[in-house]
Amino acid sequence: MDGDRNYEMTGEEFRRLGYRLVDLLAGWLDEVRDVPLTPGETPAEVRAALGDRGLPASGTPAGEVLEEAWRLLREHSLFSGHPRFAGYVISSAAPLGALADLMAAGLNPNVGAWKLSPMATEMEVQAVRWIAELLGFPSDCGGLLVSGGNMANFIGYLAARGRGARSRLRVYASKETHTWLEKAADLFGEVTVRSIGVDAEYRMDCGELELRIAEDMAAGLTPFLIVGSAGTVSTGAVDPLVRMRAIADTYGLWLHVDGAYGAPAAALPDASEDLRAVGLADSIAIDPHKWLYTPVEAGCVLVRRAAALRETFDHSPAYYRFEEEGAPVNFYQLGLQNSRGFRALKVWMQMKCAGRDGLVRMIAHDVEMAGLFAARVKAEPRLELMATGLSIVVFRWVGDGGMSEEELNRVNAELLDRVQASGELFLSNAVLEGRFGLRACFVNFRTRVEDVERMVRAVLDLGER
Ligand SMILES: Cc1ncc(COP(=O)(O)O)c(C=O)c1O
Repeated sequence: MDGDRNYEMTGEEFRRLGYRLVDLLAGWLDEVRDVPLTPGETPAEVRAALGDRGLPASGTPAGEVLEEAWRLLREHSLFSGHPRFAGYVISSAAPLGALADLMAAGLNPNVGAWKLSPMATEMEVQAVRWIAELLGFPSDCGGLLVSGGNMANFIGYLAARGRGARSRLRVYASKETHTWLEKAADLFGEVTVRSIGVDAEYRMDCGELELRIAEDMAAGLTPFLIVGSAGTVSTGAVDPLVRMRAIADTYGLWLHVDGAYGAPAAALPDASEDLRAVGLADSIAIDPHKWLYTPVEAGCVLVRRAAALRETFDHSPAYYRFEEEGAPVNFYQLGLQNSRGFRALKVWMQMKCAGRDGLVRMIAHDVEMAGLFAARVKAEPRLELMATGLSIVVFRWVGDGGMSEEELNRVNAELLDRVQASGELFLSNAVLEGRFGLRACFVNFRTRVEDVERMVRAVLDLGER
């Protein structure tokens, strides 16, 4: 029996299909500026296009499968790499990252253990160090790549908590903190999150933070962690991290910074003191698949005291013999995953390709696009600017005025639906003190000044309708 009849390929067959795929993707790159961002289809339409067939009883030639997959995806996808995509925190992925993913999957090292992935492990170690250097974090820190921001934050959280049963734990985070913390609190032991208020710029109220910690300590509870944000998900606010570091030191607490979105902006020459203070955290989450422009998935966690990761995650069973001379890193000992893909390759290749200069230039460009967008919103009487931070702009349609808050929320939610289905641009939303806003977040090296103009015009046209 020829067991590999479906899966094995000769070099020649792989070359033919590989070149075909590269041609298709290259064509898409050339046209992405001019195609609709999304067909705006309903779930029923997308399902109908895919068809409701069961598992095929027999196989289909690889070339046909590839053509079918391409057609389905090309015709029924939303393109986050489109120049006018500014939703959530999803970047335009560098094409080099796609090639890196192909190379990584082609060679398929398992980056759980050094012995299984010698060079891949060393490249991940180096990529992690480069990220630390970019952020001004100590380069002898521990760290690893994970799937994204949630996982990176989970690792920081668990490293802060350490092993062993501890009860009556308290975590402190502003109410603008991303939802990963709720999941962590649900999943990882008996803990209560103290949600701290924010100032007019959506930054943690440090007076209240200190009050709550002192209160809880006096009540015999166990504060262990302060979570700060370097770029909140709704408005891009950077918490007063310098002050939070001092408070953490006063009470002997771990300071974790969620910089999943905003931490790379610490590399900008004009970064604020609080943004640069990401380098003072005990741990930090930062996502290469956000503002370092890699394809999903790539998150990263850095931990100041490198040993904390092994202390938290290392289990070395009898069936593993991965200890080597020269103390190499075995990534399975540093985090939640066992088998691990080579997501570090795209990070390594892209950081080498752009260098610090290139990254700073792209990040600064995004901040500039957000500034332009905000200026256009401000100058337009039918729009109201609600908040800005880093490369995020939150605003709403107010028309000729006179609408109640309730009407404004309804109208703006409907406007967002129309924006998202339009295929012309893509925005997401933020809800600030109960007020529904449209939110543009620029982490997109393809966005140009004319795109910003077109985006504002499209919002105005849709708003009028
Ligand atoms: C500040 C912040 N933290 C965490 C996350 C979660 O990241 P991911 O979606 O990669 O898990 C996000 C996502 O946008 C974010 O903006």
